[in-house]
Amino acid sequence: MTTKNADNSNEAQLYSAAKSIAATHSSAIPKYYELTVDHRQDVAGIYANLTDNEVQILRNTFLNAEEKGRENNNIENCIAKGVGLGTYFRINGKNYLIPMRTEEQSVIGAASNGAKKALIHGGFKASAMASIMSGHIQLVDIPDRDKAITAIREHAVELLELANSVDPKLVAAGGGAKSIEGKIVNTAHYEMMAVEIKVDCKDAMGANAVNKMAEAIAPRVSEITGAEYIVRIISNLAKDRLARATATFDKDDIAYRDPKHPETTLLTGSVVVERMIKAYEFADAYIERGLTHNKGIMNGIDAAGAALMQDTRALECAHGYAAYGHPYGSLTKYSVDQNGNLATSIELPIAVGIVGGVVNLDPLGKVLLKIVDVHSAQELAGTIAAVGLAQNFAAVYALATEGIVRGHNTLLVKAQSGINLRKP
Ligand code: MEV
Repeated sequence: MTTKNADNSNEAQLYSAAKSIAATHSSAIPKYYELTVDHRQDVAGIYANLTDNEVQILRNTFLNAEEKGRENNNIENCIAKGVGLGTYFRINGKNYLIPMRTEEQSVIGAASNGAKKALIHGGFKASAMASIMSGHIQLVDIPDRDKAITAIREHAVELLELANSVDPKLVAAGGGAKSIEGKIVNTAHYEMMAVEIKVDCKDAMGANAVNKMAEAIAPRVSEITGAEYIVRIISNLAKDRLARATATFDKDDIAYRDPKHPETTLLTGSVVVERMIKAYEFADAYIERGLTHNKGIMNGIDAAGAALMQDTRALECAHGYAAYGHPYGSLTKYSVDQNGNLATSIELPIAVGIVGGVVNLDPLGKVLLKIVDVHSAQELAGTIAAVGLAQNFAAVYALATEGIVRGHNTLLVKAQSGINLRKP
């Protein structure tokens, strides 16, 4: 009973502090995970200026779905995943609370830990290239490959106009098909061509637009080349849509201390930096490890993507980029800077949108987009890249120090930061 009262008064203090911090639009909310679910929702509401109705959507969405399933004895239709908020993110000088949806709850705690450690040196710097996606029309039975390539070049303006005619809204927003080119593809048995259109998708993820355009121009491409077309589809190797983030982690802050006796340093900061760089190089050089290292990055990226109604299967195609033009390697890079601190970076394709598709259809997704408060697809891509880097830092830190089992268990306790699932 005494413990309960102590818990209550501790929670009340944390709640009061969290409300004050959220009112300043800071995401550095200490022990967010120790607040009650209702209080987490209140704090998110204050942080993101949510209306009462929007806070109510946070309160209701999954719980209602789950309870309704139970009432109808139909629970197999509801697979609820907790949605939590990654705290402590500061990216390009702006604070972010990052909605994350995942069944592996430690992911949210780990990302927040990584973001907190990055704060000492100002958080993350992030950027993203323009939203250029490619689509391909596969050509086979090509009568003359050189003439086909020339015909595509000579008809480029006409073909781009035809492509753009199917998405006037995108064109009005300054986007649309920008270039077209034929490339020879030699397979085991045939000579083929990939006719590649590059489309600026602006604030949309773009799959619908690119697919529509590829289908619209394929018959005309066939006419001018004399070839047959088969496949007409977007490429999920979004190599022209890269997002990047960097962060520096202070060596003194990341010294590994005895969890039970924090006054005892078990590994100095310099040793931790060195061990983390060696762990990164191992992942970069050895695919058997590299894939798991990148899977950890995708833990964060998919979770943010899923909460924000993005196509997580497309995001997963970043693994292909890890082997683009070189053997499979790490999507992050680690080195030591001139002050002995750990300098980290990430680069990967991130095709996300804030308009179109299903982005604005789901009421909870809409509220979560309001909480993350991004104003363009590029800002969202940079933000998600920073989440991937924070996640990777947290995993590699645990691996280079206490080991993942202990690290994971600690985070599981802290990770009950869901805003719309009750603690079990
Ligand atoms: C577990 O979900 C993710 C990690 O395996 C990532 C890694 O090994 O770097 C911990």
